[in-house]
Amino acid sequence: MTLELPVRLDEHAGLPLHRQLYDQLRIAILEGRLAGGSRMPSTRALADQLGLSRNTVTSAYDQLLAEGYITARLGSGTYVCTAPPDDLFEAPRHITDFPSPPRNLPTTAMPPLSDWARRATEGKVDEMLPPGTATLPYDFRDGRPAIDHFPTDLWRRLLGRRLRSKNLAHFGYAPTNGVEALRQALTEYLRRARAVRCTPEQILIVNGSQQALDLLARVCLNPGDAVVLEEPGYLGARRAFTAQGARIVHATVDAAGLITDELDHMVAGASPKLLYVTPSHQFPTGAVLSLPRRLALLRWAREHSALVIEDDYDSEFRYAGRPVEALQGLDTSGTVVYIGTFSKVLFPSLRMGYLVLPPSLVEPVNTAKWLSDRYTATLEQQVLADFFNEGHFERHLRAMRQVYQTRHDAFVAAIDRELGDLVLPPMTGTGLHALVTLREPLPIETLVRRAAREGVGIYPAQPYYLNPPPETSLVMGYTGLNEQMIAEGMRRLGTVIRATMRETARTASAGG
Ligand SMILES: Cc1ncc(COP(=O)(O)O)c(C=O)c1O
Repeated sequence: MTLELPVRLDEHAGLPLHRQLYDQLRIAILEGRLAGGSRMPSTRALADQLGLSRNTVTSAYDQLLAEGYITARLGSGTYVCTAPPDDLFEAPRHITDFPSPPRNLPTTAMPPLSDWARRATEGKVDEMLPPGTATLPYDFRDGRPAIDHFPTDLWRRLLGRRLRSKNLAHFGYAPTNGVEALRQALTEYLRRARAVRCTPEQILIVNGSQQALDLLARVCLNPGDAVVLEEPGYLGARRAFTAQGARIVHATVDAAGLITDELDHMVAGASPKLLYVTPSHQFPTGAVLSLPRRLALLRWAREHSALVIEDDYDSEFRYAGRPVEALQGLDTSGTVVYIGTFSKVLFPSLRMGYLVLPPSLVEPVNTAKWLSDRYTATLEQQVLADFFNEGHFERHLRAMRQVYQTRHDAFVAAIDRELGDLVLPPMTGTGLHALVTLREPLPIETLVRRAAREGVGIYPAQPYYLNPPPETSLVMGYTGLNEQMIAEGMRRLGTVIRATMRETARTASAGG
């Protein structure tokens, strides 16, 4: 017997022929063009009819049999099932339907969102990311490490070695707090390089600082609790705390970091549960918290029984003198949680960071981590432990310090040369970015659009303020561009700012 159906197979369609045949037969069954109970041609007959190998047809039939679209009756052949399985669960009938989400579903079909979800979705998550300008040649987006200098061959070798070992510890379930060798290596590094006081038991490996902030928010906060944040400050922290229902209290920042003298006035009698701070390189201003303020901050936190969250995201890179030591190392009363990340020292897509927890928080935060995702990917943790233990981490850090120092110096020189009369002197010297403030406010959307037309990516600082000031400021990263690109990008930016200033002045005088 033959199949009374048109079947069109295309060798160049990018799908194997047996898969195309399976799809077309399945759809014909679902649409009733192959009626329930009707007999299918034998695999040999259909292969002859369509000019296919018998294997191709057998493979398509096997799949249809396994999924219950056809049944085989011993000695009598293969038949279309009378109740095809998709009738039961309304799977998409056409291959082309598959990738698109169902349309016109009534919104009432959804249960209402939780209070957490409503708060979390107030404001878009992508507001945290500057507008997509990833393809611009002179992209001053912050937080971009020099990936071209990352030792990918070495990383591949270490990963390959771990993979080849077929050790169950890399492939099975693992402890929540992270791979012991990594926690041990981190403890030694943090003690030596950042003066952090810790033991491996206090360390929890997480998927980047963002997860650390989310876990702390969940463990420490109830809706309505007050949290002190720097203004301007890191959006990732603000969003994690407001999703938990926290009431945000601002702490203003100046050239010596968070102004501790104003804390009492700002909290106005409230008892804040948390205080989030970036003492080694304030985000985004670049200020370094002075020693007297560090001590005042710790005293204040102790007196208010507030937990201090120290986000130490990029202080490994300090271009004049040694990196400033961590606030956590000055604390003698277990008031500080220290957060670190590998997003800047290695690369962001690794999604790895860590918390150093005061002993009383170890168990609750580990439990929250277990509930969230059990633990961070073990294989990558093992590779990172090897990277540390074989001396590559510190070697990489030394190499990157040199690369970034050169880029930092090129950035400072280019600002001076191209924007010297247009901007206030930025705070530089640490990290991977600087806050650049124009002397004269300009319409930021126009500036961003014009710069993009010239191939330059710039990013307003405004989202980092709860109450944005009238000045126009940009958060400018310089580590993802080499010296020539920095120089040329800045030259173009200078031209764009001057043109926008002229146009703004013309419009103002025409209007006035
Ligand atoms: C203040 C601050 N903390 C932390 C991070 C890193 O976040 P994550 O470790 O989740 O990649 C960034 C990244 O830009 C940051 O600016």
